[in-house]
Amino acid sequence: MNITNSTGILDTINSRRSINNFNSTKTITEAKINELIRYTTKAPTAFNVQNWHFVAVHTSEQKTKLKNLAYGQQKVEDAAVTFIVSGLLEPQNLIKHSLDSSLKDNVLSQEMVDGWINAVSNMYSDNPILQRDEAIRSASLAAMTMMLSAEAMGMVSCPLIGFDPNGVKEAFSLPELAVPAMLITVGFEADGNWPQKPRIDNTEVLTIV
Ligand SMILES: Cc1cc2nc3c(=O)[nH]c(=O)nc-3n(C[C@H](O)[C@H](O)[C@H](O)COP(=O)(O)O)c2cc1C
Repeated sequence: MNITNSTGILDTINSRRSINNFNSTKTITEAKINELIRYTTKAPTAFNVQNWHFVAVHTSEQKTKLKNLAYGQQKVEDAAVTFIVSGLLEPQNLIKHSLDSSLKDNVLSQEMVDGWINAVSNMYSDNPILQRDEAIRSASLAAMTMMLSAEAMGMVSCPLIGFDPNGVKEAFSLPELAVPAMLITVGFEADGNWPQKPRIDNTEVLTIV
């Protein structure tokens, strides 16, 4: 099969790196933040439940507050914006609202919507481990979509797990049901970053059956 790269997505995947040194003089507008989140929320979620939440931290006072909760990682202060990317627990209480517009726009029938609401309720209501798995899955798919979208918009990024999730949840008044999964710094590159890091060969990570 001949795979063409008509949209440039493969170039973006091939060239993305996690950036450590950001240009601290460059900012982005709230309009750009909104544009980035519109691309980010094109990521898939189970049953289209969209169990995610984002905080865009971009003022210097709030960035310093977040840096202190991210073990002093300087990129949180230097990047134009850092997103707190969370997944939400209890998808059974979100699904009806999440599917409202699909019903209204006739993308899904009432019968299909009712079936999905039932399925989500049956699958997740008594299963806190699956709720947490789904929160992390949805947030992770959003985070990757955000990083690739940022690249396509001419920016760079870095995912971070080095932060205090309980401290961040409290300091930034995240919803009760939020599980902060990752921080994503987004902005513009300064000098002195690593080149792209090589990957383990397919022969070690891939089984084809
Ligand atoms: C879940 C996750 C957490 C990470 N946490 C941090 C972090 O706290 N600080 C940091 O500098 N890099 C962090 N990274 C970046 C990784 O070190 C980086 O993705 C990895 O070395 C591969 O490099 P690349 O993204 O440039 O290909 C994290 C990456 C992921 C996926």
